[in-house]
This record gives sequence, C-alpha cells and structure tokens, in this order.
Amino acid sequence: MEIENSFNRREFLTFMGKGLAALSVPISASSLLQACSFSSNLTKEDSFLEEYNFQGIYPSNKDSLILANGLRARIVLKAGDLLSNQVSFGYNNDHIQFFTLAKNEGLLCVNHEYPHTLFQTGSDGKKSKTREQVITEMRSLGVSVVHVKFENDQWKPIRNSTYNRRLDGLTKIPFDKKGFFHGETPVGTIGNCAGGKTPWNTYLTCEENYDVYYGEIKFINGKRVIQQQEDKFRWYKEFPHPPEHYGWVVEIDPLTGKAKKLTGLGRFAHEGATVVLSKDGYPVVYMGDDASSQFIYKFVSNDKRSLENGTLYVADTENGKWLALDRDMNPKLGSAFKTQEELLIRTREAAALLGATPQDRPEDIEVSPIDGSVYVALTKDAKKDNYYGAILKIIEANDDAASKQFSSSIFLLGGEKSAVACPDNMVFDKKGNLWITTDMSGDAMNKPPYEKFKNNGLFFVPMHGPKAGLAFQVASAPIEAELTGPCFSADGKTLFLSVQHPGEETTDLSAPTSNWPDGGNSLPKPSVVAISGDLLDTIIGE
Ligand code: FEO
Ligand code: CA
Ligand code: CA
Ligand code: CA
Repeated sequence: MEIENSFNRREFLTFMGKGLAALSVPISASSLLQACSFSSNLTKEDSFLEEYNFQGIYPSNKDSLILANGLRARIVLKAGDLLSNQVSFGYNNDHIQFFTLAKNEGLLCVNHEYPHTLFQTGSDGKKSKTREQVITEMRSLGVSVVHVKFENDQWKPIRNSTYNRRLDGLTKIPFDKKGFFHGETPVGTIGNCAGGKTPWNTYLTCEENYDVYYGEIKFINGKRVIQQQEDKFRWYKEFPHPPEHYGWVVEIDPLTGKAKKLTGLGRFAHEGATVVLSKDGYPVVYMGDDASSQFIYKFVSNDKRSLENGTLYVADTENGKWLALDRDMNPKLGSAFKTQEELLIRTREAAALLGATPQDRPEDIEVSPIDGSVYVALTKDAKKDNYYGAILKIIEANDDAASKQFSSSIFLLGGEKSAVACPDNMVFDKKGNLWITTDMSGDAMNKPPYEKFKNNGLFFVPMHGPKAGLAFQVASAPIEAELTGPCFSADGKTLFLSVQHPGEETTDLSAPTSNWPDGGNSLPKPSVVAISGDLLDTIIGE
C-alpha cells in the first residue's frame, strides 16, 4: 500500500476542503523569493470555508521546502550570514525563540546544534582535525541573538545592531551557584537543541548531545573515568574540558548576553525546557532527556523570578507520579550520592534509582495554552524496535503544573495511519492547535521503514472541531533536512522555522546531496525561514 493511498482513504488531502485545487509551493534555489506569492482562495467572507479549510500536501522527496497552498516562506538567516563585523550566524540552526522589542520588531534567539566538518572546513576530519578546525566548529555552535524587524512584508535581520551577538563553544558561562564543581567556569555552550523562554523574558538553551565533543563520565568501582567517542567530533583532543561542564540548561538574557548554567534543572541530554506557571504562580519547567530509555523531568521553582532553587522531579508514568530527585527527601538517594551537587551531575543515575519510567527518547514538550495539558514527543526508539514514535499527553492532577500526580495517555501514535513519523519539535498556536515537526534521520529517510514518509515535514493538528487530533502535512523539508524550532511571532502570523542539516549525508563537496537553498551546484546551508500567508492568518484569526 502506498502511503498516498492511505492518506486518500482518510481524506488526508481534503481537509474540509471542497473546491481548492491541489497546489503546493516548491521553495527551492532561485525560485525561493518569487515562488512565495501564491495564496489560496481563502477569505473571511467565504461562508463555506469556516476556520481551518486547507489542503495538506503529499510527502515529497524533492530538494525543496514545499508548502501547503496558502503558505509562503522567505529566508531570514542563513548559516554564516554576517550580522556585524564580529558576529556571524552559526551553523545548524535549531530552536528559535522570539522576544518582542516593539511592534514588528524583536530579537530572535536561535540555537546552533552541531557542526558539519566537511561543509565548514573542507575536510571531513575523519583521521585527524587541526586545532583551527576544532575552533571553527566551536565558534559555529551555541546561540545567535539576532535583532529582526518586519519591513516591506518580510522579516529581516538588522545588520550591525548592538543586540546581535553570539554565545558559542568558546564563551565562558558560569554555573548559577558559586563553588559548583570546584568553582570552575565552563567554556562554551554546545549541542544546543531545543529551549524555552521564562516569564521574565530570558532565553533557555538546552545542551543535548554534549558527549560527542568532550565525552561522558562513568563511575567504575566508584572511580570517575571519562569515556570518549573516537568516531565523533573529538574536541577534547585540543581542549580537554570536563564533561561535567556540559549537559545543562543555560539561561541567557537576550538583551545583554549575560548567561548562567542552571544546575538545579539537572544534567542530561537536555532536549528542551518549556516553562509554565503553577496555580500559585511559580515557574515549572518541563524537560525531556533525548536518549534511548531515558526520562521525562520537571523542575518546580521555589522562586517566582528565578530557576536557581527548587525541586527537580522525574516522571513515573506507570503510576502517574512525579518523583523528587532530592537527597533530603529520599534515603536511597541520600546514601547513593554524597551531595545534591553530585546527584545533579549524575541525574540519570538518580532517576533510574528511583524507578522512573524509561521512555522512547523524549524530545520536545509543549503545554496547551487552552487547558494546560502537557504533550511530550517520544520520537522513536530503534533499540526497542519503535520506529515511528508517539506523542504522550500528560494531565496534571488538579490541572496544576506543580502537582505530584498526573494521568497520561497516547495522544498520537506515529506511523502510516497518522502520517507522522518521529515527532520531534512542537509548538501551539494562539488558538491552541498543535504544530509538529518530524525527525527521521538523514541516513534513514526514504529507506525502509521510512520510505513512505519521504522527507521530514511540518504537520498541523487542529485541536478542536471534527478533525481534532488528526495530523495534516503542511511543509516538506529539502533533502536530508529536518524542520526544527517552530516559533510564532508575537502576533502569531509568522511561523519562524529552522531548516536544519540539508544535505548532511554529503561526503564529496563536488557532489552535495542537497543544494538548498541557493540551488545550482551550491553547498547547502541551514537557514531560518519565516512562513506566513492566508492560511496562517485564517487559522490564527484576525
Ligand atoms: Fe537535538 Fe533530540 O534533538
Ligand atoms: Ca530535537
Ligand atoms: Ca530528533
Ligand atoms: Ca536536529
């Protein structure tokens, strides 16, 4: 059975949609700017069209950013773009967060997750890597803060703005607590995947796969040893920084660049950090640890204006309980770890000791603005033969984010029926609808068991009405790319989206597997696009 057929059977392409011609907008190469002028026939006066009338798109394996009818995209930033004499936009942009400065003006905080040695330095670095190559990679990760403005119908960076800045793999960032880890100051923030925003308008960036640069600590017979990954980026050979300096959530003031590593939120492969308020007005941060059989966490702060002190919990989804990772509250933890600092550095071990429920790679977590229910993308877990993943829905007891009990159920199961494979990043729009991006890895997509899904995509899931809970594909990524970091502008009418790692499987610079977005024989460039159009206007409302 072809996936197109299964989509047809459940009316995949015709979502309440009579009368709209199947029309998709390929955004590729030189056609990018010109191709963006399509709009659908949607008008508010059209009584038939109600609120979300549109057509989804078919999965595609084209080297284009293909959008549903009624959407258009413009590139805002490309890897390496000069933002001032000192500041250039980093590589492999991931999470995006918008901070409003004024009407139609703001700061985009953008994560840069991992390098591509061949594209960035011209050599694959497989045998050895020079110190300069390592520094090039270090400078390309971390966070970009970019001043942007909406002018002449498009979002553009303001070059030479004093707000433009980078925090990268060489930036010194202290721990939030004096004396933590011998009082050392970590160098750099790396592996920056998803993130979040605090109620006091600071940015949270999450250090995910830090172990591929500096290794990971293991305790063998009580002795600390560092295990390195010889087939990965190997920065430790030039800069032997301790693994304990990484794997944290980093809080950044986007206006000043002042940053700190938040130790209380634990240390693991942090995917994202989504902040909501408890019933009493205290910040609660939901976090996933994206690795096979790792856990879902939340941090409940003791302070309404800070994430420095509070309680870290891990989820037992079998019994619907949040388990406190606090030495003083649990004798098992008290005897296993000499200090709370040691527990936080070894969060995964503490969580396993309490009997937390292993999950199938928790990625992004988002909270419905309508009813406070919590959605967790469990992307997949090939080690357990789970290839398509799922989205778990958590309802906190008393609808309070600070509760210690919850119920959970599967909201969406990945696979042909839902048309979604490997859910990763998510965002809610102002109306409470869910937008999901998928992450089939570059070396796996378009091959069994993923071939029917073709390239990665962006999906729209209405959360009310007759089609509530169904996923409709609205964008298809270029070859080997992943769409990440979906983020709405303040008015909800622009969806900023990262196109990450196009052509990442390239091994020969003269034959890149993708030429997106510049076309011809150009090398691919990860980029941030701004998606807008009648369809989004209709969904968001005036
Ligand atoms: Fe960087 Fe788990 O995605
Ligand atoms: Ca992710
Ligand atoms: Ca992923
Ligand atoms: Ca990614």
